[in-house]
Amino acid sequence: MAGGTTMYYYGGDYNPEQWPEEIWHDDVARMREANVTIVTLAVFSWSRIQPAEGEFDFGWLDRIIDLLHDNGIGVDLATATASPPPWMHEKYPEILPVTREGVTLSPGGRQHYAPSSPVYRRLAAELVTAVVERYKDHPAVQMWHLNNEYACHVHADYSDNARDAFRAWLEDRYGTVEALNAAWGTNFWSQRYTSFDQVLPPRIAPASSNPGQMLDFRRFTNDSLLECALMEKEIIRSAGATQPITTNFMGPWPAVDYAKWAPHLDVVSDDAYPDPNDPGSFRTAAFARDLMRSLKPGTPWLLMEQSSNALNWRPSNAPKAPGQMEALSAQCVGRGADGILFFQWRQSKAGSEKFHSAMLPHAGTGTRTWREIVRLGGMLDSLPTFEPGSPAQVALVFDWENWWALDNPDHPQNRLDYLEVVTRWHAALQRAHIQVDIVPPEKVGGEHRLAIAPVLYLMRDEGAAALKAFVEGGGTLLTGPFSDIVDGQDHFLAGGFIQRLGAILGITLEDFGALVPRDADEPGEREARVEGAFGDAVGELFAEEIWLDGAEAVATFSSGRRTGNPAVTRHQAGAGTAWYAATVLDDEGCDALVSHLAAEAGVEPVVAGAPATVDASRRGDVVTLINFGQDDATVAIGGTDILSGAEVDKVTLAPFEFAFVKELAQ
Ligand code: GAL
Repeated sequence: MAGGTTMYYYGGDYNPEQWPEEIWHDDVARMREANVTIVTLAVFSWSRIQPAEGEFDFGWLDRIIDLLHDNGIGVDLATATASPPPWMHEKYPEILPVTREGVTLSPGGRQHYAPSSPVYRRLAAELVTAVVERYKDHPAVQMWHLNNEYACHVHADYSDNARDAFRAWLEDRYGTVEALNAAWGTNFWSQRYTSFDQVLPPRIAPASSNPGQMLDFRRFTNDSLLECALMEKEIIRSAGATQPITTNFMGPWPAVDYAKWAPHLDVVSDDAYPDPNDPGSFRTAAFARDLMRSLKPGTPWLLMEQSSNALNWRPSNAPKAPGQMEALSAQCVGRGADGILFFQWRQSKAGSEKFHSAMLPHAGTGTRTWREIVRLGGMLDSLPTFEPGSPAQVALVFDWENWWALDNPDHPQNRLDYLEVVTRWHAALQRAHIQVDIVPPEKVGGEHRLAIAPVLYLMRDEGAAALKAFVEGGGTLLTGPFSDIVDGQDHFLAGGFIQRLGAILGITLEDFGALVPRDADEPGEREARVEGAFGDAVGELFAEEIWLDGAEAVATFSSGRRTGNPAVTRHQAGAGTAWYAATVLDDEGCDALVSHLAAEAGVEPVVAGAPATVDASRRGDVVTLINFGQDDATVAIGGTDILSGAEVDKVTLAPFEFAFVKELAQ
């Protein structure tokens, strides 16, 4: 999919309107020096493009796009709708978003718009139409960039715009107010509605809001943002523009269900800002990269933004270590990206991001950052592209609706962090060098041999059916704890818990046995020791009371109130096996179970016997190896080291060093 003169996209957000035009010539010269192939223009340019309603100024944008084109640099052109200009709120203050507490968010920052505001949408549509009409045939334009990081700052809007749109959305979903009452269980706490006009967004209330209302409001928020994106996409396509369309995601972002968005986009792109100080952040980064690869299987994705060095928005903003940025970039390529872009090209000299690093630092080209940027551009320029990314044999189930339902209060365990638990399993698979697809339950199947579905509390009927069919067809499934508890509407099913998967798991679940977190300053059991066939481990957050109903206990609890009860179970069902963990296992437990499950399911690692701190991923016959550890690491692998051209039977990598190895045919 790559454009320009090289096979990989390389570049970043470019904000030329922050600089006098003389600087632009230096910019493009430096871009060429760094092998930049593409820049993202106009992300925050609305006030410069449209100084007043009905008035457009494209002169500056024409000049910079032409200049870039003359220098062989492509453009990812933003629709510029991410930050409304001052004239808009002056004239139409009703476009501003409102928090759950009723605070109207003021302009002066960015993203101050209510996504369901008809006025915002009308003006955004006018802007996008004007931009697209002007540039759709410009040969520099290689991609369209819808808005920017939808829901980055405003996770949900509770304004009257949202109120009206939420009512319409509910009417569309439920048809009758009776159906809404049934879905939300409004006979509880005197919440019964007699008209859709009585329904509000879940604004702050004296007690917990109705969980059905909360869940539907998350769905509505997702849909209203997606409507904005699709409105822009429709304008682009109906104008006849043919370039691919993207919008930049933010890894596993809670507010927006990217699994629902990805099918509407031509290219998935992601923004990633791992904390350089956090030695584990390459693991959470790996999760986000695998998620992006899995959102559009078989299609390369783009790293749309990362920082070249330090940020400005954490409490303390550490620099990246020498080589760390390049290692993180290689991790994207290994996990399916065909482009590496940054925020931003030239460091701003004013504004709240002036301390944010850039490809071209404020201190200029005599800097380590610049040398690394040039080196990375050169590396990508010489690198062949690989197959998009192999389908994995392991599916890790990650589901936004489940996340939203778990986020609601009033559960047996209200300190569960769903993302933390899922990434814990991902990290164990990463330490075992096993390639993973990250999918909703309905997408489990195909090449998958093993599926891990932790804390899948909300299980839609379709998801439960897919997991059941997967096991019966020969797959190995691990789920639990606190899984298969409610249906897609957050209601219990008749008969108890684990109603859809209980038969294949061969267990029943009686009680959740919530534990107090280890670091909490309050009395109560903090952890449950687990002993079993796969070794010893420690469980947290839950020590559930489960009963065997056909399954065998692979491990039992060996401390606390559940001593002697099953902790991990295994059951043969159809041609496959279904496992259940009645607690949140610690890293050691996850590691041990992963190696058991992988062996049982016949899952092949990308490489065998590599140190756990080596990140390994596969694209066809190319294996990417990156050393995120503190010491040199050696990996036995036979093939061609693509960067050096040498034939190897092993590679030794210094910290942050990486290699792309084209494996010998087996
Ligand atoms: C992103 C955003 C960029 C820039 C960057 C800074 O959220 O899209 O415009 O602000 O963060 O890290």
